[in-house]
Amino acid sequence: MLEMQDCPFTFSVSLSGGRPTQYDHHITRALSAMHGQYADQQAYAALLDQGDKVIYEVYEIKRPEVAGELPHGVSIVHPGKVGNEYFMTKGHFHAELETAEVYYCLQGTGVMVMETPEGEWSVQDLRPGQVLYVPPRWAHRSVNTGDEDLVMLYVYPGHSGHNYAAIERQGFRKLVVEHNSQPAIVDNPRWRPPGQDLPESF
Ligand code: PA5
Ligand code: NI
Repeated sequence: MLEMQDCPFTFSVSLSGGRPTQYDHHITRALSAMHGQYADQQAYAALLDQGDKVIYEVYEIKRPEVAGELPHGVSIVHPGKVGNEYFMTKGHFHAELETAEVYYCLQGTGVMVMETPEGEWSVQDLRPGQVLYVPPRWAHRSVNTGDEDLVMLYVYPGHSGHNYAAIERQGFRKLVVEHNSQPAIVDNPRWRPPGQDLPESF
């Protein structure tokens, strides 16, 4: 753990992935933290019975949470599936909705699943060398569709914040599942258009 620096600094992230040479905070998200996120709840429970696997990790360079700063870091989504749905991050809107984010894919294969509060959606491929721009207003979730770690550098504005609540309630509009040994984008049966309440059973 390093003190926050107010002088220019450099660090390295290997182009073959892995942890950066410098970071302030290491977050790990295990399967148990993803309760309710995967469509196949039986498969989720069965996998959890086998142990609380780490699904993804984030190495953060922390910066003050103010406009003008640029927190950044490296996210690593491990390979695997819950039922036929690939390992993924929780996903979030930025609390300050009008803030964007940039991702640079270093290693692995996957997609970024995105949507706006109005229900517009987009799924973009991620592979090494690919840069992804997430415009303001778009919630984002990284999904690893390959068989090695999906490693990305990210940068976002300091005042963005994270809003997980909307996604925790009903997930993203689209799911990414394996179908005939290929990734496929399918509708999330739990998702309801803006303004329509979820049935009690969910
Ligand atoms: O800033 C981002 O969007 C990323 O660093 C994510 O926080 C990271 O991928 C982990 O995802 P989540 O915050 O949805 O758990
Ligand atoms: Ni974000």
